[in-house]
Amino acid sequence: MRHDHLIDTKQLSRADIEGVLDRAAEIDADPAAFADRHAGKLLGLMFYEPSTRTKMSFETAIKRLGGDIVDMGSVESSSVKKGESLADSARVVEGYADALVLRHPSQGAAKMVSDFVDVPLLNAGDGAGHHPTQTLLDLYTIRENAGLDDLTIGIMGDLKYGRTVHSLAHALTNFDTRQHFVSPPSLKLPRSVRYDLHEAGANVREHADVEDVLPNLDVLYVTRIQRERFPDENEYREIAGEYQIDLDTLAGASDDLTVMHPLPRVDEIAAEVDDTPHAKYFEQAHNGVPVRMALLDSMLEER
Ligand code: NCD
Repeated sequence: MRHDHLIDTKQLSRADIEGVLDRAAEIDADPAAFADRHAGKLLGLMFYEPSTRTKMSFETAIKRLGGDIVDMGSVESSSVKKGESLADSARVVEGYADALVLRHPSQGAAKMVSDFVDVPLLNAGDGAGHHPTQTLLDLYTIRENAGLDDLTIGIMGDLKYGRTVHSLAHALTNFDTRQHFVSPPSLKLPRSVRYDLHEAGANVREHADVEDVLPNLDVLYVTRIQRERFPDENEYREIAGEYQIDLDTLAGASDDLTVMHPLPRVDEIAAEVDDTPHAKYFEQAHNGVPVRMALLDSMLEER
């Protein structure tokens, strides 16, 4: 991949994506071959928002490549508390690390920081903006389970604030896919995302009910309503719990349907679905390690 920073998926070509996924498959097949690849390299973690999977899988990935992390820690325990700007913190941490991973509540934060730092910067989520490394593991999971071409995918839930959705939808325009977006009217895709998808020639439809499209789907990608992004808690409460996938819903699906979710889930997928062959969300989370290893490997090796 010929990029200094990974900010969003609009910058990725099909060749970039396939390069990372192919390398992740190599790593999956023989992780030991990559064990010392980046011995001594340090990954700087700057997480201004909660994270379990993204942070832990980046940490696992760099350690499995022979490197280690330096972690800014929580906002509460760092100099952010004293009023340090994001740009200043990033310029300091880049002096300690060979690459930076940033998660921040403000949309556009990663793009802004990328103008200040020379080491590779990976956007691990900028508010309701993008989450490109999540998309790469999503694509890896889709490729393994359903294939990436001639794909019919339903993307459901919070399409307005869901950054995983914005990144995934863009990336899928590199492949022969039909995208069906399912959400309450108030959580439809933002106009800017819809515009970009249109420009990229995406095959897109919007629906209010998942039942309308479920029988045709190869993949159903379910997302959490992003409670923390709602300006008004009452607005959240009105929508919460409206969309849930359970065994009754799945009765109308193809036997081969793959159900995915970036996690954490709240109640969008009933626990009874976990034991069906449709459920791939934990496998998806585990794929975060080989995919982030592949990404770090390619971004660190170019330097
Ligand atoms: C997602 C995120 O942070 O955007 N989580 C993740 O990284 N797997 C999804 C979410 O929080 O709903």
